[in-house]
Amino acid sequence: MQKKVKILGIAGSLRKQSYNRELIRVALEVAPANCTIEIFDLEGIPIYNQDHETNLPKIVVSFKEKIRQADAILIATPEYNYSFPGVLKNAIDWGSRPYGESAWNDKIVAVMGASPAIQGTSRAQYQLRQVFITLNMHALNQPELMIGEAQNKFDGAGKLIDPKARQKIAELVAALVEAASG
Ligand SMILES: Cc1cc2nc3c(=O)[nH]c(=O)nc-3n(C[C@H](O)[C@H](O)[C@H](O)COP(=O)(O)O)c2cc1C
Repeated sequence: MQKKVKILGIAGSLRKQSYNRELIRVALEVAPANCTIEIFDLEGIPIYNQDHETNLPKIVVSFKEKIRQADAILIATPEYNYSFPGVLKNAIDWGSRPYGESAWNDKIVAVMGASPAIQGTSRAQYQLRQVFITLNMHALNQPELMIGEAQNKFDGAGKLIDPKARQKIAELVAALVEAASG
């Protein structure tokens, strides 16, 4: 039997009704059978402090373990002021340290995002892709998944109700699984 691809899903938002948390949840529903997706919630990760690099907080040790165990990473990022949020950058930074012990090295990664603006997090995603370069992560170029005008695509309870967006998430996860199986 073929080994299942292990994906770690990360949303760059702590908001309870976050659009981007919902994208990761939907990914779980539409993922192909030959993968598993585990979600890591960034709530509780402390603000990065280099003084603690030699004695990493417990939650960071666990985060790095989850990254290492994963074959691929799936990130849903909000856009804050034309970039990706500090909460996501903070988690990325912890995962990359101490120097020479980055958990991100050589991981395949796919990105998606949703926002009320028409660009649907494009600026945040391109900045995130720049960070993947120094981390030696291999980002899928295609498909790109930017869900704009999110207020029309999620219901009052925060559920994604746009079938096209749902289909696109399925395509992105399938592409990630294929890349990680190769
Ligand atoms: C500090 C801040 C800055 C924001 N800047 C942008 C922005 O540059 N572009 C954008 O599309 N949305 C921006 N927004 C709106 C977010 O897209 C919106 O709050 C979205 O719901 C955040 O994602 P989430 O639902 O996953 O938490 C900003 C929101 C905040 C709180």
